Amino acid sequence: MGTDGQILWLSVPLFFQGKDVVHVKTASKWYVAGVSAVGLIVGLYCAYILFTAQIGMWNGETIGRMITLTILCVLCRCLPLYIREDCTVDLSFLSILAAVLVLGPEAAVTMVFITTPLEIIPTEDGKGYYHILNTAPVKTFFNMGNRNISFYAGGLAYYAAGGVPGKIGLPSILPAILAFLLCALVLNSSILTGCFRLQGICRVNPTIFQMLWGLVPSILCTVPVGYFISFLLLRSSGPWLTMLFVLPLLLARFSFKLYLDSQHQHINIIRTLAAAIDAKDHYTRGHSQRVSVYSARIARRMGLSSKRTDRLQLAALFHDIGKIAVPDEILNKRGWLTQEERARIQNHPRDGVRILENMDSYTELYPYILHHHEFYNGHGYPDGTAGDDLPVDIYILSAADAYDAITSDRPYHKGVSPQKAAEIMLEESGKQFHPEVARTVAAMAADGSIFEPIPADSWSEDPDREPVSTC
Ligand SMILES: [Fe+2]
Repeated sequence: MGTDGQILWLSVPLFFQGKDVVHVKTASKWYVAGVSAVGLIVGLYCAYILFTAQIGMWNGETIGRMITLTILCVLCRCLPLYIREDCTVDLSFLSILAAVLVLGPEAAVTMVFITTPLEIIPTEDGKGYYHILNTAPVKTFFNMGNRNISFYAGGLAYYAAGGVPGKIGLPSILPAILAFLLCALVLNSSILTGCFRLQGICRVNPTIFQMLWGLVPSILCTVPVGYFISFLLLRSSGPWLTMLFVLPLLLARFSFKLYLDSQHQHINIIRTLAAAIDAKDHYTRGHSQRVSVYSARIARRMGLSSKRTDRLQLAALFHDIGKIAVPDEILNKRGWLTQEERARIQNHPRDGVRILENMDSYTELYPYILHHHEFYNGHGYPDGTAGDDLPVDIYILSAADAYDAITSDRPYHKGVSPQKAAEIMLEESGKQFHPEVARTVAAMAADGSIFEPIPADSWSEDPDREPVSTC
């Protein structure tokens, strides 16, 4: 997930889409109303300045540039890419940056403002379109307001850094470009994140970091392209040169779409495999998915980086893949297992690594799968690896696995309460569990944060609490 290496603009929180509007909280409504009102005032103010104080700049050339950039902006806005089911990016930022450089921030904001009703965005499944007539007005106004505020604030920073519209000499223009980008980006992300936060969407913290860090490479790619468009526009026949440049731009967008599609397929394959693993054992439906979510929550609470958290979340989905190699009659056997049967089950971490060996992109998951049943004191299996010989990430997976097992109903025991689970975690601290992980899980069990409803946008699609078990 993220916006790796490509071009940006963030908008469109899904919960303002269509029927979902009914779920919007009161605080979010006030926030959205405030952003919309301020954004509307900013848009009207910029249009007023553009056609009064700046009326002298308009002539045939500048009108041609404005029309070209407006066409480019609408085209890009109508071809967004979904980086998540509730977030899109598009290339319109290029035309906006070029508009700032060629005509000034007021023209850029006015362009964005007046083209808002012209947006026609494909739905994520590609079967329909969102446009102004079938989109909740609150959503249209919020996104319009967010853009107007972000770009105008960026424009003020551009002026403050010495930017003068129409003067794009290098390297003197670079500080003004960076000031515009930084200010506009931070505001755009912050306003959108504030909306998620007020709505109580769980992934708000990883979201803001992913947004900001994910956009850094995108900015580096975007700046030269936006600058190049402004360079073309300021030549004679600039509008024609710019329209010719749209073709390679669309090619770049198509390439990024292919990349996103492959990522989407990758996640779907993982989901399917996780479901297959859980289906193998009658009592573990949804177990891998829950362990994945619990692992991520514990990791975030312990301050692990988003990269480590994502890797852990993925590893947790696969942690029991070795069970595919265990015969059904052993896996689903009720009652005591023979020594041989137990040994067969306890070999599932090694089997898991063997199964994944053919998939090169998962090599970094091997340690998680191999050691997820190790104990901190060395009494686990398959190797008896102990203490700091294993990274804390694996102990998090191990604790999440155990937490789900002891809080879930099994044929041979009733699931315990989160409070009782917290006691067990603390009792086993330094024995089965890593002490810091045990303390964290116990605290999260006590305050209920580990057990919050699993969001629909997580990798876990089926969070309902069916009877489960692990081995
Ligand atoms: Fe396991």
